Amino acid sequence: MNPEAEWDGVLLKALDPRWAERIIFLEECGSTNDEARRMAQDGLSHESLVLTERQTAGRGRRGQPWTCPAGESIACSLLLRPSDPMVLWSRLSLATGLAVAEALDRFGLAAEVKWPNDVWVNEHKICGILVESAEGCVIIGIGLNVNTISFPDGLAHPATSIALEAGEPVSREEVLVAILERVKFRAGQISTGFPELLTSWNTRCVLRGRKVKLQTNGVTKTGVMEGLSINGELLLKTAEGLEKILHADHIRLVKTT
Ligand code: BTN
Repeated sequence: MNPEAEWDGVLLKALDPRWAERIIFLEECGSTNDEARRMAQDGLSHESLVLTERQTAGRGRRGQPWTCPAGESIACSLLLRPSDPMVLWSRLSLATGLAVAEALDRFGLAAEVKWPNDVWVNEHKICGILVESAEGCVIIGIGLNVNTISFPDGLAHPATSIALEAGEPVSREEVLVAILERVKFRAGQISTGFPELLTSWNTRCVLRGRKVKLQTNGVTKTGVMEGLSINGELLLKTAEGLEKILHADHIRLVKTT
């Protein structure tokens, strides 16, 4: 890791040395997911982390841009080469969202997960996660608002940060250490540990028991989110019955009066 980084080094001390060796710090890059993908082709090892201070072409889900101000946020991508069957890798989305929410507990926040993998606090988005697969590996991009105190107008979702919720700035290093610990634990549950992961995820789900509107395969559906199925699909109770939804966009809470 570049010692000149603004990151103050708590990370190196707090982390298991095997992690510390595997952090690649880039002062600036386009997208850490793209950098991780490129490095993966050159053999980057399992549990390597590409961390940057400044992204110039950060990406969100559905091709949306993702911006995070330098010095205030965490933008990183974790490369995993899971030994679990590939068919289970998509579960890493749920695992990572849950892991980040759990890490935020340590900073006094009551973080919730929003399907498939956003993290919300007080009905505001605090973290976005972009999971992509590449040749023999998975790249888990994490964008977290840490010490940002004002956000631009016109964001797709109202945003918040740890500092805004906790009332004071926090160390990004400590946050990252907490996240890496929890991701390692939860990523280890995508196979036999998945039922427990789902139970924990369901308990933290901001949408559970609430009326939502979403789009799936171009069709708009409204119903009550019942939680997740054993396979990680969203269970939506609609007028037609209980539907299992694997992919959806634009999930919104429907305000009830
Ligand atoms: C979303 O909510 O749409 C997902 C946002 C993911 C942003 C992170 S920041 C680090 C990594 N690099 C990217 O280009 N995107 C992810």
